[in-house]
Amino acid sequence: MFYKQTIRDIDLEGKTVLLRADYNVPLSSGKITDDYRIRQSLPTIEYLLSKNVKLIICSHLGRPDGKVNKELSLAPIAKKLEKLLGKKVEFVDDCIGVKVKKAANALKGKDILLLENLRFYLQEEKNDKNFAKSLSSIAEVFVQDGFGVVHRAHASTEGVTHFLPSVSGLLLEKEVDVITNVMENPQRPLMAIVGGAKIEDKIEIIKRFIKIADFLAVGGALANPFLVAKGVDVKQSLMDKSEVQTAKEVLKEANAESKLRNFVFSVPHDSVVATKIDKTARTRIVDFSSNSFADIINYPGRVPESETKLNAAEKILDIGPFSASFIAGAVQLSATVVWNGTMGVTEIDGLQGPIGPFSHGTQTVIEALVGDLGHKPFSLVGGGDTVGYVEKRKIMDGFDHVSTGGGASLELICGHKLPGVEALMDKI
Ligand code: 3PG
Repeated sequence: MFYKQTIRDIDLEGKTVLLRADYNVPLSSGKITDDYRIRQSLPTIEYLLSKNVKLIICSHLGRPDGKVNKELSLAPIAKKLEKLLGKKVEFVDDCIGVKVKKAANALKGKDILLLENLRFYLQEEKNDKNFAKSLSSIAEVFVQDGFGVVHRAHASTEGVTHFLPSVSGLLLEKEVDVITNVMENPQRPLMAIVGGAKIEDKIEIIKRFIKIADFLAVGGALANPFLVAKGVDVKQSLMDKSEVQTAKEVLKEANAESKLRNFVFSVPHDSVVATKIDKTARTRIVDFSSNSFADIINYPGRVPESETKLNAAEKILDIGPFSASFIAGAVQLSATVVWNGTMGVTEIDGLQGPIGPFSHGTQTVIEALVGDLGHKPFSLVGGGDTVGYVEKRKIMDGFDHVSTGGGASLELICGHKLPGVEALMDKI
């Protein structure tokens, strides 16, 4: 149960509300390429409007480092919001000062004003007290709904809460509730699928899942150090050599855990390899473990060595079909699955559609998660890249919860307290 007060817990009728959203969305030539975060903020906005509030919304966009950068203006977000809400959204090209005060004073009940990028001021990320005071001076209540940014103690996440009664929006409440519940009280078997580029970025969640999951599979480039630790020569594959030692330690921990209880840690058995990252690349499947199986059953027809090893110029770009099926099979046996990170280089489209030559592992995992293979577990999808991919493919609806947070969802999965949540008023 969410332990902070929400917009449902306080009297908001006719008040001026400052809403912190996370509208840090991808843009290309001024166009929003993924509006998931904006759409997810709508229930809170609609609830607030139903209370006749004068609504002032603030957010950051990108990392302008305290400088005004027109390319990171929130003006396109105002237009998008207008379209999604079907009502006028005023925009002011600053977030503190006289201009903002004037625009705020002109608001009537149910009016919406969007402020310019908070990070055009260095004081935002520095959690500057005076900046937080100016920001809060235009409102009577603060509502935090920018889940993606509550792992940062900034002026608009922590600082403002010292000046205004501060409660949670509906998105923040849902995110914290779902993620905490999955981590603390999951329906079992609990499975985690962790992919992405580097172990370093995911080491904490890998370690947490070793302790609490029933099955943990790793894929993507972060699986490469594990393969090296197991004796595979990954040739040109993306890999930080310093991560091999970490991988060895993680394998040791996972082995120890498997001896204590029913726990499986799965490293890819096979991979899709190629010499270039391109949609026309000639791919090959390399099966690292086929001959160990042949050894066990004393099978004379061994797989030729060339099919168990990478060539000098090759790199691993996806998990192989055996590994993907193995993960998909485990998904079929799970009640809850947390998925964070793609299994291969999914940025490359195919010749005839979005599924490129290095996306088949991820595609198999997706099919299992959304129930195409029969059983549909409760699925929690987190992490910026994974969400971006799922959004690009327009398959969001197939999952039970797709988090709007990247870093914030990882922090919560790891069990850390989030400063922007802790600063809100406790439930009475
Ligand atoms: C995100 O996209 O993860 C959030 O908006 C936070 O952005 P930041 O990593 O630049 O603080």
